[in-house]
Amino acid sequence: MFFQPPTTRLSPVFFFLSSRLPPLPADDVKGRGWGPNNAIERNQITVWQTKRRGDEGLHWAGSCMVLKEGGGSAGQAMEQQTGRLYEFVVFGATGYAGRFVVEKLAQVLEKETSTVYRWAVAGRSRERLLKVVSRLPCKLGKPKPSVGTIVCDVNDPDSVEKMCKQTLLLMNCVGPYWLLGEPVVKACIKNGTNYIDICGEPKFLEEMYMKYNKEAAENGVHVVGSSGFSSIPADMGVIYTQNEVDGIITTIESFWYPKLTGKGIGINRTAWQAAIHGLQFKHHLKKLRKQTSLEPIPFMDKTVKRNVHYCKEYNYVAIPFIGADASVVRRTQRYLYEHHQKTPVHYVSYSVVSGFVSALLLLFAGFLITLLAKIKCGRRLLLKYPDFFSCSAFSDEGPTQRGIKETSFQMRFISKGYSMDKDPVYDIPNMVAYTSVEGPEPAYVTTSIAMVQAAVTMIEEQKLLPKGGGVFTPGAAFAQTSLLDRLTESGLTFSVQKTTTKD
Ligand SMILES: NC(=O)c1ccc[n+]([C@@H]2O[C@H](COP(=O)([O-])OP(=O)(O)OC[C@H]3O[C@@H](n4cnc5c(N)ncnc54)[C@H](OP(=O)(O)O)[C@@H]3O)[C@@H](O)[C@H]2O)c1
Repeated sequence: MFFQPPTTRLSPVFFFLSSRLPPLPADDVKGRGWGPNNAIERNQITVWQTKRRGDEGLHWAGSCMVLKEGGGSAGQAMEQQTGRLYEFVVFGATGYAGRFVVEKLAQVLEKETSTVYRWAVAGRSRERLLKVVSRLPCKLGKPKPSVGTIVCDVNDPDSVEKMCKQTLLLMNCVGPYWLLGEPVVKACIKNGTNYIDICGEPKFLEEMYMKYNKEAAENGVHVVGSSGFSSIPADMGVIYTQNEVDGIITTIESFWYPKLTGKGIGINRTAWQAAIHGLQFKHHLKKLRKQTSLEPIPFMDKTVKRNVHYCKEYNYVAIPFIGADASVVRRTQRYLYEHHQKTPVHYVSYSVVSGFVSALLLLFAGFLITLLAKIKCGRRLLLKYPDFFSCSAFSDEGPTQRGIKETSFQMRFISKGYSMDKDPVYDIPNMVAYTSVEGPEPAYVTTSIAMVQAAVTMIEEQKLLPKGGGVFTPGAAFAQTSLLDRLTESGLTFSVQKTTTKD
C-alpha cells in the first residue's frame, strides 16, 4: 500500500543480520495513561544551575547559553562558570561517521543557533584533525570557524581523562564500541561529562546500562547511546506515534528499508566489524538479559508476529530486523512505563523484501555468515573480505558522495491499540494507525543529523532530560524535549498517514 519495492544491494545484508539477535523478553502492557502531546516550545532556553563537584573542584553543567554579541568574553566567562573549555567535543572526528558529524555540528552551531558555542574535534592525529577542520569553510560557505583540536587515544587513559575534563558533552564516534567504547563512557562518568554516541550494538548498549547506570546517576551525568540512524528514527518514531495518535497504542510493528535510485552506497567496514562481533557473541547478550531478570510488564498483545511473514498491508515479506532498534525501543518503553506510568508499547522491528524467495536466500546467507562468525578462521575471512560477503554493502572505501545522494530510507509503523472510549484491560483492540519516518541516507547523513540534534538538545534543554543522570536510550532521555521538532526541521519527516477505528 505505502511501500515502494526495495530494490537494493544494501538491504540483503541488513536483512540477514536482522534475524540474528536473541529475542528480547516479552513486554507486557498494563493500564493506560499517555498524557497529552509533550511538544515543547522551541527555543526554550534553559539556564542550568552551576554545581560544584566536591572531589575535583570542577564546575559543570552550567548554562551554555552565550549570546553571539560579545562572544569572546562570554566564552571566557563560560569557562569560569562551567570549568570547561568546550560545550561539545566530537571524538573520532577523523572517521567516516565522525566527519559527517563534524560537518553537521559546524552547520548547526555556526549557522543555525543564536548562541556562540565553543567546540572541538578529537582524535588520534592532530594532522588529520586539522585536515577535517580545514574542509569546513568550503562546506559552510564561510570563513573557518573557531574549532579546537584535542589529541586522544582510547588506549592512553590519561589522554581520555584530559579530553573528558575539557567538555560539557562528549560526542563519541569512535567504534567499534565493544572494543573502544567502555573506557570513554567510564571516563565521562568519572569526570562529570555528559556523553552521547552512535552505537548500534545492543550488547554494548545494554552492558553500559547495567554496569554504569547507578554511577552515572550518582554523578549527575547523562549517558545516551544509539543516537544515530540506529536508533533515533525508530525510538522517536514510536514516541511520535504515541503522541500524535488519538488513542492508546499497545503494539507497534515497524518496517524499514533503504530506497536507492542508483547502484547503492558502501558502508565503512567498521560497522561490519561491529556486526560480526554481534553475531559472534549473540549468546552473551542472551545471558546478559537473563541475568537482569527484569519484572515483566503486563502483557496485552500476544498476536504480534516475530518471524518472517507476509505483511498484507504492504504486500511484502517482513524479516525481523536485528539492528539495535528493538532493544532500544523496548528499553525506552520500559523506562517510560516505570518512571512516568506511560502505557508501554510492545514493539517489533522488521525489514521488508519483495518475496519469499528473496527472504529464503537472505536467511540462508544470514545462517552461513552467523556460522562463519562463530569460528576463528571464518571470522578472519568475513573481516578480510567485507565486500564479498556483504555483496558490496560494506567496504574499505566507505560511501561515495553520489551513493549518499541517491539513498534515503523509509520506516513505516503499523500501530494497534484502543480508541479513548475503550479499556485495554477489558476490551479488544479496535484501532489501527499508520505512521512513518522518512529521511536522507541513513548510515551517515541521518546519523549525523540525529546525533547533532540530540547533542544540541542535551546542552540546550538540560532541565528537560531525566532528573539526575543515568544511562539512557534516546527516547528515555528526550521524550520531554523538543528533539522531534528539531529532527523535523533538519530533514527527517514524521507523519501520521491514516487511523482506522472500529466501534
Ligand atoms: N548508529 C548508526 O546508525 C551508525 C552509523 C554509522 C556508524 N556507526 C558506528 O560508528 C562507529 C564509527 O564508524 P565509522 O564508519 O566512522 O568508522 P571509522 O571510519 O573506522 O572511524 C573510526 C574512528 O575511530 C577512531 N579510532 C580508532 N581507534 C581509536 C583509538 N584507539 N583511539 C581513538 N580513536 C580511535 C579512528 O581514528 P583514526 O582516524 O585515527 O583511525 C576514527 O576516527 C562504528 O562503531 C559504527 O558502527 C553507527
